[in-house]
Amino acid sequence: MYKEKDIDQTKDEVTINSISFSIDELEKDCWIQLVNGAIKSRSPFHTPCVATLNNSEVSMRTVVLRKALPLLKELRFHTDTRSNKWKELQNNDSISALFYDPSTRVQIRVKGKVILHFNDEMTSEAWQKTSLSSRRCYLTEASPSSFSTIPTSGLSEEVEQEDFTLAESEVGAQHFGIVTIQVKSLEWLWLNHAGHRRAFFDYVNDSYRWMIP
Ligand SMILES: Cc1cc2nc3c(=O)[nH]c(=O)nc-3n(C[C@H](O)[C@H](O)[C@H](O)COP(=O)(O)O)c2cc1C
Repeated sequence: MYKEKDIDQTKDEVTINSISFSIDELEKDCWIQLVNGAIKSRSPFHTPCVATLNNSEVSMRTVVLRKALPLLKELRFHTDTRSNKWKELQNNDSISALFYDPSTRVQIRVKGKVILHFNDEMTSEAWQKTSLSSRRCYLTEASPSSFSTIPTSGLSEEVEQEDFTLAESEVGAQHFGIVTIQVKSLEWLWLNHAGHRRAFFDYVNDSYRWMIP
């Protein structure tokens, strides 16, 4: 956990819990935190907010971070291919993801372009690993975001009660999509009473720089 001390204004590095990070080391640490976010369901980084563009309107929503791949600079989440966000990303491949950990007071802001995966090897592999309970998300008869005259999950009684077999859930595979974010830039902000710290990692121009918070 980060502590609010150990700040040396003269060094070209940031010291967190008595450990000094060069800007390159800090970049690696950001990805360690993102990988942890994908693996650990209790991590605050497990559920980022992602923003897309619907023509000129911004839309945001929470998603579950499923994968963080430091070498490829990729993040992934799962979604229904009938959803609004999927359509928005088909029209405009720009995306932004926002992470905040209140315990460390670290915000990570990601900008990227997406690749949409459906009906391919990646999706079928992930679908095989998707639990019955999670498969329910892809089993609504009407598309997500359809309006309804009653408050409902949109699932049949059996599906809602998880009274269905793995074989019966296979129909959901046709709606299962993976959004891969190719991270173009990552911005780290650490809130600290003794002075905030901020860094910008630009993967397009391969430049890492400190910023004024
Ligand atoms: C904690 C949490 C996790 C969520 N995870 C996902 C997710 O991984 N994928 C997804 O499509 N929707 C997820 N949702 C639902 C979305 O936030 C959103 O309400 C829904 O997908 C409709 O978004 P859209 O209309 O922009 O497509 C999650 C919601 C919450 C509260």
